[in-house]
Amino acid sequence: MKTILVAGGAGYIGSHMVALLVEKGYDVVVVDNLCTGHWQAVKGAKLRVGDLRDGNFLDQVFSEFPIDGVINFAAYSLVGESVTNPLKYYGNNVAGSQSMLTAMKNHGVKKIVFSSTAATYGEPEKQPIEETDRTEPTNPYGATKLAIEGMLKWCDKAYGIKYAALRYFNAAGANTEVGIGEDHNPESHLIPIVLQAALGKRDHVGIFGDDYPTPDGTCVRDYIHVRDLASAHLLALEYLDKGGESGSFNLGNGTGYSVKEIIDTARKVTGKPIPATVEPRRAGDPSVLIASNKKAQEVLGWKPERGLEQIISDAWTWHSSHPDGYGK
Ligand code: UFG
Repeated sequence: MKTILVAGGAGYIGSHMVALLVEKGYDVVVVDNLCTGHWQAVKGAKLRVGDLRDGNFLDQVFSEFPIDGVINFAAYSLVGESVTNPLKYYGNNVAGSQSMLTAMKNHGVKKIVFSSTAATYGEPEKQPIEETDRTEPTNPYGATKLAIEGMLKWCDKAYGIKYAALRYFNAAGANTEVGIGEDHNPESHLIPIVLQAALGKRDHVGIFGDDYPTPDGTCVRDYIHVRDLASAHLLALEYLDKGGESGSFNLGNGTGYSVKEIIDTARKVTGKPIPATVEPRRAGDPSVLIASNKKAQEVLGWKPERGLEQIISDAWTWHSSHPDGYGK
């Protein structure tokens, strides 16, 4: 494997994947329509700007480069927006992946690592969540990712395209060496919001509910460093290359932190007061989401290396040096 196509490589997680592949000496081709991605985040790779749903565009890219494997991050990912506009999510996420798989089939490319999500589980039946647990998404975002996992399964059977669907828990952090990080507009994720409050760009953080059945009443999540996520993708690609069986894998640290613990850790890391006030619950938030990462450890040989302080400290390095993201 030498040349890897990264769809959505200008986005937050995709750009960290590109950085790792470049560091490891792969030739990297990024396709991205730049609707939410940033060309500045693509470092050391070739960028072809276009939409996955455009089959002619993908055919051109697959003809131009000797692609050995695909990693697909390209998708809309705002849970709330997916509830009010599900067709936008099916129309982009599912159709984009369908188009990518069609191009792979036509060009004889047999390996894909797919960016899936803990949202495929919906309200979990137990903690930590295992890959064999019930998948019943509670929003269209998770439903589109689960639908794509289904499409991958059938494409494996029909065309021999091998896949690893990686179900991320809460991605956070940055690559401070390469100088890339998180820049969403609008921002909805907790850690960047907390750090924007530390920078004075927001006057406070709203804590969405403190009456959940958790130790301090706020929601518990499993935060995983984006660089650890990237290393799991590379291991998954190598695993498929060695003939590994297709499947889904959770990617999380296996430890949960509450919203209040995140704010407290950020206060410690940044040395800033970070005002916070309790606000109403956000619709659709499960109280606890913690991954079992046993399967990824055992099958892929993955071991996350960075804990919460490192996640927040790397994110802080990025946000404090790029207060306007890639914008300025
Ligand atoms: N939160 C706040 N205040 C904020 C923002 C978030 O209290 O201003 C809380 C949320 O209620 C939640 C926690 O912080 O309890 C984390 O929220 P995020 O929005 O950062 O992340 P989510 O857990 O909601 O979502 C993440 C991914 C989604 C994915 C989902 C899977 O970002 O893409 O996990 O369940 F779908």
